[in-house]
Amino acid sequence: MIRSRMYINGEFVESEGGGWLPVYDPSTEEIIAEVPDGIAADIDRAVRAARAAFDGGLWSQTTAQERGRMLFRLADKIRAEATALAETECRNSGKPIVEAEYDITDAATCFEYYGGLATKIQGFVNPVPDNALSLSLREPVGVAGQIIPWNYPLLMSAWKLAPALAAGCTCVLKVAEQTPLSALMMASWLTEVGFPAGVINIVTGLGETAGAPLVAHPGVDKIAFTGSSAVGKLILKSAADTVKRVTMELGGKSPNIFFADADFEAAIDGALFGVFINQGEVCSAGSRILVERSIYPKFVDAMVAKAKTIKVGPPMDRETKMGALVSKEQYDRVLSYQEIGRKEARLVSGGGRVRSLPHGYYVEPTIFADVDNSSRIAQEEVFGPVAAVIPFDNEADAIRIANDTPYGLAAAVWSRDIFRVMRAVKAIRAGIVWVNHMQPTYVEAPWGGFKQSGFGRELGPWGIEEYLETKQVHINLSEQPIGWY
Ligand code: NAI
Ligand code: MG
Repeated sequence: MIRSRMYINGEFVESEGGGWLPVYDPSTEEIIAEVPDGIAADIDRAVRAARAAFDGGLWSQTTAQERGRMLFRLADKIRAEATALAETECRNSGKPIVEAEYDITDAATCFEYYGGLATKIQGFVNPVPDNALSLSLREPVGVAGQIIPWNYPLLMSAWKLAPALAAGCTCVLKVAEQTPLSALMMASWLTEVGFPAGVINIVTGLGETAGAPLVAHPGVDKIAFTGSSAVGKLILKSAADTVKRVTMELGGKSPNIFFADADFEAAIDGALFGVFINQGEVCSAGSRILVERSIYPKFVDAMVAKAKTIKVGPPMDRETKMGALVSKEQYDRVLSYQEIGRKEARLVSGGGRVRSLPHGYYVEPTIFADVDNSSRIAQEEVFGPVAAVIPFDNEADAIRIANDTPYGLAAAVWSRDIFRVMRAVKAIRAGIVWVNHMQPTYVEAPWGGFKQSGFGRELGPWGIEEYLETKQVHINLSEQPIGWY
């Protein structure tokens, strides 16, 4: 059994509680490693290390250029080790190897992007009406506590760590209990690429016993969270006690809207890609497929025909388009939603586990048609390969249905009519709207939700803003006394 330890203050350590958690390969259901079952004492140790590195430690003395170069070196190392990282990611998460390779490349690109941005954080001179120099300085928010999910393990680590480090923060990253291995592999290179001890701490453990104490810790200045709405709400409440800055990315129930004039072939492809990529374990999954009624029957038939050709199989197979779901818990959850769906709508494709694969959490690409938008499979995030297809009558109807959800992370609109597209873009309440595509994500562009999908933005210059405070400095240039008394 491989025991991967967690990374605190520049060292690989076990939990002070002495416990270990199993890590699975979800495509075989076998245990492939163990990681420390982190507890509050471990979180405390990590936060103290991050605090010391930030408060007058080595990190606070680095220049932005030095921080940027460390991020570049980390990116180079990730690219050099991409094969091993992608295999680890693939085995631990169940996602297809080809997708894992993209994730690793994107993680490296994210570190490079923020390495470059480190030297572009600029202050401001405020035009105050006095004989004074008024400045706005940008300073790192301090120690960042970061909690990530299992669907993009290394990439989510990069989205969290890179902007924080570029801003000059130090970090305690709590990885998902299901998928700790790629981030721990990266941890083994941090000293070599130059990060002083304590700057990056990567802790393992469960949400309640390791995540919750990180949120409550008074030594943490900011929490960045990606995960479920239920946990996001708990974190918000807990963070209130210490008035932490918080950013939240809580997923969604994103509409993928198809008007009758859309390119039909591209539309079918886009509908399937939008919801089945990464086995549907995507926060922005286009899980509500809204189709104009005049093309609806033909559209559903074409989706079903093409869905049957999607190759579900072993994640390491390069032909595989859908691997295994990440865990038994997620598999049970998705199957239970399929049961709910059978009662609420018309099952037209899939609907169960993949019978030809007896081991592993493989679920068929599943499509429900004639879904009512008020039903549970149209309102609740499934986070698996389950599509809800909903017909609409006209543009107003489409917009109404699209917005009829507590979520607001993403949406897509397919049409050749630019005027209709732009009306829809404006009317849809979501943080990301794709037109004639769904899912491409770029480190240069903002990512985050409206409504109950969360708040704050990751990526691009917006991502670094979330790790910066603004300090006003007023320098009196008048040599006269204030003269009030
Ligand atoms: P989760 O929200 O429980 O886990 C995400 C992270 O939060 C993990 O690192 C976990 O350890 C941590 N966590 C859990 N409870 C915590 C607590 N009380 N305090 C602090 N940290 C805590 O998500 P889970 O259970 O893995 O998946 C359940 C559902 O959440 C999914 O079916 C999906 O609908 C949604 N989800 C959304 C994601 C997104 O990208 N927005 C990602 C993963 C899941
Ligand atoms: Mg959970």
